[in-house]
Amino acid sequence: MRKTILVFGRSGQVATALAELGTASDAKLEFAGRDRCDLLVDDPARLIGQLVPAAVINASGHTAVDKAESEPEAAMRLNRDAPAAMARACAALEIPFVHISTDYVFDGAKTQPYVETDPIGPLGVYGRSKAEGEAEVAEIGGAWTIFRTAWVMSPGGANFVNTMRRFAAEREVMRVVDDQHGRPTLAADIAAVCLETARRSADGDRSLQGLFHLAGDDDATWADVAERVFEHAGRRTGRRPALARISTADYPTPAHRPANSRLDTAKLQRTAAWTPRPWRDTVDICLAG
Ligand SMILES: NC(=O)c1ccc[n+]([C@@H]2O[C@H](COP(=O)([O-])OP(=O)(O)OC[C@H]3O[C@@H](n4cnc5c(N)ncnc54)[C@H](OP(=O)(O)O)[C@@H]3O)[C@@H](O)[C@H]2O)c1
Repeated sequence: MRKTILVFGRSGQVATALAELGTASDAKLEFAGRDRCDLLVDDPARLIGQLVPAAVINASGHTAVDKAESEPEAAMRLNRDAPAAMARACAALEIPFVHISTDYVFDGAKTQPYVETDPIGPLGVYGRSKAEGEAEVAEIGGAWTIFRTAWVMSPGGANFVNTMRRFAAEREVMRVVDDQHGRPTLAADIAAVCLETARRSADGDRSLQGLFHLAGDDDATWADVAERVFEHAGRRTGRRPALARISTADYPTPAHRPANSRLDTAKLQRTAAWTPRPWRDTVDICLAG
């Protein structure tokens, strides 16, 4: 019989990628979007207790970084309390729990890529809520895995590449921040690692439990990503905006963002024989979708 894996989230980038993977694998994935379990009000433990799945993957979250500044209660509910409730239910039922966190738990002051043991120092509500979620999950214990990821992109999702693609058709000049450094990551790659981890942990394999960084290869700024999108647009339509590379100070936002949020993925590469995808390939895949 196929093992059921319960996924919180349905239409998000990682959840969609999990659904695409699930149809091609022998795992049976059950999805709980907010229509089935609204994590602002419902207790996810109830659904976990009803289904008693082989593993739980949490692909949900309050991911609107700027909006989180004006609705901290909602951010904390989704990014701290909900994963804590999931982790507690999973630990009680001895079900492996796979959770996704963020590069924004760091303050960006380090000059090198961040490793798992680096101290955190979130700059905004989103990062703080995710950091508190991580701490709760680890504290509760059981068979848990947390993947910190970054700059998530997918062909159809709400992300930077698709925003730039829209602007490419509309703008003569596009001003894009060039002093935040990160590692764009394909949602499908996150989904594949989460699914593999859930399956292995459900089979009693403990090697992928704990905290791991999961991100694409090579470093980029938002302006680098925009440039790649505009190159594609230019080739396709003969028209592309001029790119103005600006600083964070020239583009104030409600939330402060780390100047460096590059994640070092060596631990995951060693443990899972995993190879990160170069970010330019990630952008090209998004644009081809
Ligand atoms: N996006 C990024 O750049 C980024 C960077 C670092 C880390 N991450 C982390 O990666 C994970 C997945 O991100 P993503 O980009 O796939 O997210 P996303 O596309 O923004 O999707 C968010 C998901 O959260 C669910 N959700 C939101 N509010 C909910 C509520 N009240 N009740 C239940 N579910 C709710 C949504 O459910 P529905 O399916 O019902 O809409 C959706 O599936 C998150 O933990 C995020 O913090 C993301």
